[in-house]
Amino acid sequence: MDHYKLFIDGEFVDARDGKTFESIDPGTGLPIATVAQAGKADAEAAIEAARRAFDNGDWSGLEPAARAARIYDFADRVMQQGLRLTVTESMDSGQVVGLAKFMPMLGSGILRNLAYYAATRFPWEEEIPYSGNVFAPGRDYIRREPVGVCVGIIPWNFPMSMAFWKISHAITMGNTIVLKPASATSLSALIIAECAKAAGIPKGVINVIAGPGGELGKVLCTHPYVDKIAFTGSTEVGREIMKMAADTVKKVTLELGGKSPNIILDDADMDLAVEGACFGTFFHQGQICESGTRVLVSSKIYDEFIDKMKKRAERLRVGYQLQPTSHLGPLVNEVQLATVERYVKLGKGEGAEIVTGGKRAEAPGIKGGFYYAPTIFAKVKNKMRIAQEEIFGPVVGVIKFDSDEEAVAAANDSMYGLGGGIFSSNHARAERVARGIRTGTIWINNYHAFGDFCPFGGYKQSGVGREMGQSGLSEYTQVKRMHVAYYADHESNFSMNILSDNTKISSFQYKCPTNVIAGHGSLAAIYKEIVNLGCRRALILTDPGVRKAGLAQLAKDALVDFCVGIFDNIAQDTDLDTVDAATGMARDLKADCIVSVGGGSVIDTAKSVCVTLKNGGRANDHVALFRLMEPQTPHIVIPTTSGTGSEVTNVAVIKSKIAGRKVYIVDLHIVPNTAILDPRFTMTLPPGLTATTAMDAMTHAIEALTSTLSNRICDGQALHAIRLIGENLPTAVVNGKDEKARLNMQIAATMAGWAFTIAQVGLVHAMAHTLGILHNIPHGTACGIILPKVMRFNIDHAAEKFGKVAQALGVDTAGMDGRKAALSAADAIEALMTKVGHPMKLRDLGVPEQSLGICAFHAIADTPSLFNARPVNDPGQVLEIYKQVH
Ligand SMILES: NC(=O)c1ccc[n+]([C@@H]2O[C@H](COP(=O)([O-])OP(=O)(O)OC[C@H]3O[C@@H](n4cnc5c(N)ncnc54)[C@H](O)[C@@H]3O)[C@@H](O)[C@H]2O)c1
Repeated sequence: MDHYKLFIDGEFVDARDGKTFESIDPGTGLPIATVAQAGKADAEAAIEAARRAFDNGDWSGLEPAARAARIYDFADRVMQQGLRLTVTESMDSGQVVGLAKFMPMLGSGILRNLAYYAATRFPWEEEIPYSGNVFAPGRDYIRREPVGVCVGIIPWNFPMSMAFWKISHAITMGNTIVLKPASATSLSALIIAECAKAAGIPKGVINVIAGPGGELGKVLCTHPYVDKIAFTGSTEVGREIMKMAADTVKKVTLELGGKSPNIILDDADMDLAVEGACFGTFFHQGQICESGTRVLVSSKIYDEFIDKMKKRAERLRVGYQLQPTSHLGPLVNEVQLATVERYVKLGKGEGAEIVTGGKRAEAPGIKGGFYYAPTIFAKVKNKMRIAQEEIFGPVVGVIKFDSDEEAVAAANDSMYGLGGGIFSSNHARAERVARGIRTGTIWINNYHAFGDFCPFGGYKQSGVGREMGQSGLSEYTQVKRMHVAYYADHESNFSMNILSDNTKISSFQYKCPTNVIAGHGSLAAIYKEIVNLGCRRALILTDPGVRKAGLAQLAKDALVDFCVGIFDNIAQDTDLDTVDAATGMARDLKADCIVSVGGGSVIDTAKSVCVTLKNGGRANDHVALFRLMEPQTPHIVIPTTSGTGSEVTNVAVIKSKIAGRKVYIVDLHIVPNTAILDPRFTMTLPPGLTATTAMDAMTHAIEALTSTLSNRICDGQALHAIRLIGENLPTAVVNGKDEKARLNMQIAATMAGWAFTIAQVGLVHAMAHTLGILHNIPHGTACGIILPKVMRFNIDHAAEKFGKVAQALGVDTAGMDGRKAALSAADAIEALMTKVGHPMKLRDLGVPEQSLGICAFHAIADTPSLFNARPVNDPGQVLEIYKQVH
């Protein structure tokens, strides 16, 4: 009789205490080999070897391609041993030779396929384009690394293929493994170990120990050196393994039992369904976890189906497993045979009816062995124990159902969720039914079809995790998030600053990619810009006031035949419903780009339309910060007010009725492609709107200049914008047709927009947004009224910058101390507002005084207040400002 030894640390060794056990041929009941029986000390030695092998990096440190090359060699050695593996497996486990002959080929296939996948496709490193954390700029990426020492514990039903599954996943991903086959069927795993040794897989990477599961399992699942356990077997043992692994918090994947439904719909091809039901159950004597042992059959075809299935089952040949004509061999051992007999008795007792089988079988010419006849139960109810408990033998229960819904409900009425089949001549119907079933695999018009790249595993108590394919390989890795900060400067670290008194961020990134075309008649450029963007079907977005002023028509004429329509139903301070309506029109007209003609309300609507058009769904689906990964629908902007700057910014501000707030889409990918600053488009803006929209731009410039994120590029833009507004606003208000003043105001707004895209804004915006949402106060108007008061509130946190603002506004600060110069800036703003007739009090706009408290709480939670020069944590202070401007 052959003797098999344990494989530990690259050597074949006997157990330390010299114990052995016999392996029995279940087809005859006679012993065929002796095997060294590992004990605690052997298990520990194997784990220690695996730990050393992992930690020394000889395997885990190799590139996946280098590991793959060694694994291909291993796979070749398996093929060399193919005949020996087949015969040994068949004799040791009872697997019929017609099946066992494929196993070495499939085993070497999974070794090769997974290694190839890992070397060529597996995402070992993945960039995270946006971390979603605006406060922590840097490179973020994911590295997948091996888990470490893995334990594989496998069952007796498919000893060879289970050994290949566990070994291939573990070593492909750079881990080491201790494999424990079932003691009834250890031989093939030990031959596989010979192949690994011959291929030069480094010592300790693969270890195989045979012996009793209870004793060895305890060591393997509790040893602190073990990082991961992969177990295939019963749910009962799986639960124990999970508990044992809990103390040292190991990663655990479990592939457990099943009672899988195989649903035969009334439109199934009858012969195929009968074949599928028999194959799904009797293949390998029904000793497969995902067997379709609950056959659910439509009541319309039930009797005919039972009749045909009975005839088919009775044609199956039970025989010795090495006999080439055998369809079914023996069960694995006497214990399993007894279990099957017990369940058959139980089924009869529950009222199910034996259609065929229900007794032991004899293999022709063989004495002994553990054979059982293919057995069909009819009149089975899903609640019966034979329909709920796993039998693991050639026994199937056939259950009747009346509707697809009833079939789905019965299929799901199980603690298991491993596999399942659906037979139907209508794929759409079958897939609909399949979607309702909570199980890890569904085969339509097929059964037991596995693939190296197809994930396998269970829902519910059928398991945790998956094997095979990328999902399976991922289970054998840890995910490491890597973050490399942009700046090695704690003063540039927004989060670290929470623990310091420094609020100023010193380093910065500047990216403002809009193509700006400015000047008299620059509208003409739109024709070429559309072509440059690869577009032909522009939808114009505008509002009724702008349309009435003839500006939408002006743009339409310039677009010649590239304009497919005009959407003008945009109210001041737009909302998400408006975005949805405009998107609907763009979809109907198959628009491929958006041209927005208007102020911030129109432009922000258009930005949101571009995102919704590109990504589908509704506008509200896309409210988010830094989430878009690619360019959006092309967008050309023609601003018509004196102030928004939105034509170059990375933000869209939209009212949300449900949230009761202004919400934001912030992303570099919503920055418009082109901004055309043609002064003709602002000449029609009435004086009042000229003043209020200009104060929005002024606020952008001053808040960006003084924000915690301000920087030297923005500072220059902001100060120049302030200077241009101070110099040109009075003229633009008095004489709207002054083209030079109008163009300078547009340029100022754009520069202020660039400044705030990079440096953000502050408390004025938070307070103005609040008045917009709670009291419909136009944004620019609110900004203007609040700005000077917030400047005074911030005075000690931005004195030097405010001094420069004063100078930009023409104040002679010579001889003033820093604080006085700073305060003079707020005075100069108020003087400018008075000069251009800007509203000064909220009371005049109908804001009730008693609402100011709510406004203060609301404003403090609005994002811009985060970047205010002076930290804003006290709603009382904000209320005080609101009161001053009331
Ligand atoms: N995304 C950003 O970067 C950004 C920046 C600032 C403001 N905003 C948002 O923009 C909105 C305010 O935009 P706005 O101040 O530009 O005003 P607006 O777009 O709301 O327009 C105000 C009014 O002016 C009229 N109008 C505009 N141009 C005209 C013209 N040339 N002739 C005659 N009438 C004209 C409009 O019909 C409208 O009634 C707010 O919702 C604000 O939150 C966004």
